[in-house]
Amino acid sequence: MTGIVWNRAWDREEGESRVRSLFTRTFGAGQLPDGVWSAPGRINLIGEHTDYNGGSCLPFALPHRTYVALRRREDDLVQLSSGQEDGLWTARLSEVGPVGTSGEVSGWGAYVVGVAWALREAGHDVPGFDAVVDSCVPYGAGLSSSAALEAAFAVALGDASDDAARAALTAACVRAENEIAGAPTGGMDQSAALRSTAGHALLLDCTTWAARQVPFAPGAHEPAGEVLVIDTKAPHQLVDGQYAARRAACEDAARTLGVATLSEVTSLPDALAQLPDDTARRRVRHVVTEIARVDEVVGLLSSGGDLPAVGRVLVAGHESLRDDYEVTVPELDVAVEAAVDAGAFGARMVGGGFGGSVIALVPAGSAVDVAAHVAAVFAARGFAAPAFLLAEPSDAAS
Ligand code: GLA
Repeated sequence: MTGIVWNRAWDREEGESRVRSLFTRTFGAGQLPDGVWSAPGRINLIGEHTDYNGGSCLPFALPHRTYVALRRREDDLVQLSSGQEDGLWTARLSEVGPVGTSGEVSGWGAYVVGVAWALREAGHDVPGFDAVVDSCVPYGAGLSSSAALEAAFAVALGDASDDAARAALTAACVRAENEIAGAPTGGMDQSAALRSTAGHALLLDCTTWAARQVPFAPGAHEPAGEVLVIDTKAPHQLVDGQYAARRAACEDAARTLGVATLSEVTSLPDALAQLPDDTARRRVRHVVTEIARVDEVVGLLSSGGDLPAVGRVLVAGHESLRDDYEVTVPELDVAVEAAVDAGAFGARMVGGGFGGSVIALVPAGSAVDVAAHVAAVFAARGFAAPAFLLAEPSDAAS
């Protein structure tokens, strides 16, 4: 493992004690929070760029979490401090509004006050608060650190008593991200952070937002596996613009095809024949085949969980994201290829693309060797050194 960077997940005790002591350092000796809450980052087994097309996806929660210590206030002032950022971030909840209005806010606190704003919009009585945040979810790695931040505040400020309540919190987090933070993301990440259960992947229907827990404990399969996550450290290129462009292309194609979302396409050949250009055809082919791959993986996991077969579906998903959806970069392609060369059952990029992370499903006990091979190939290619983590399907925000 020499020279290889592993991102370790803090245990709950460590996360909690970090934010309790940061709270006291920030707000003064003797000052105590009402409580501590936390929420995980996510990885996605299969189903990429399907959520905003009303399709399905199969994410699960990471053991890496964002911790929040929070104390409610009598007024509507919000004061925030973070273990990852300097200074105090402040805002008045009554003044916060969507991007493009006089209430627009910027910086990391937008994700936090966005959640409070969305809960208020949904009719909840949310006061101001003093809070601190610390996190072991890698930032900028495509592992949804922003959804973890939103979800931790959602459970601190709202009702998380059952899955229906959690679905409502998810909707508030999506509004926070879309309208207050200004990122047009699709809902998978917030759902994973709020609705996952340990030992399962979360099968989400992104039209109805119905969720089903699919047992996924890679170590218990035959052959047994483990999930290695490779943070490629590739610089994100034009992420926001490219993501929005893919989303717009899908919406255009759906209009041409006369369907509300691409999840309603029933015959791929018929749909392709109706589309005007090759780019539109490739975008639609990715979405439709990717939704079928989600079904395929769920089928495999439900019938004994043949991990080598699951791995082959992951590779097919990556090729589709590379060739048809065109959201990969060389670091993502090389990481997938190197992981498979080193014996992974399969691997693919996760999240929006243009940088970020790769999920590799590897034989149990081989993650360290696969990581070493990927790191060596990256060094030989002159890429930045990647970082790694192990992803055991974990619990949602609490
Ligand atoms: C990002 C978005 C998600 C989803 C993925 C692609 O992670 O936040 O909503 O669209 O990209 O599957």
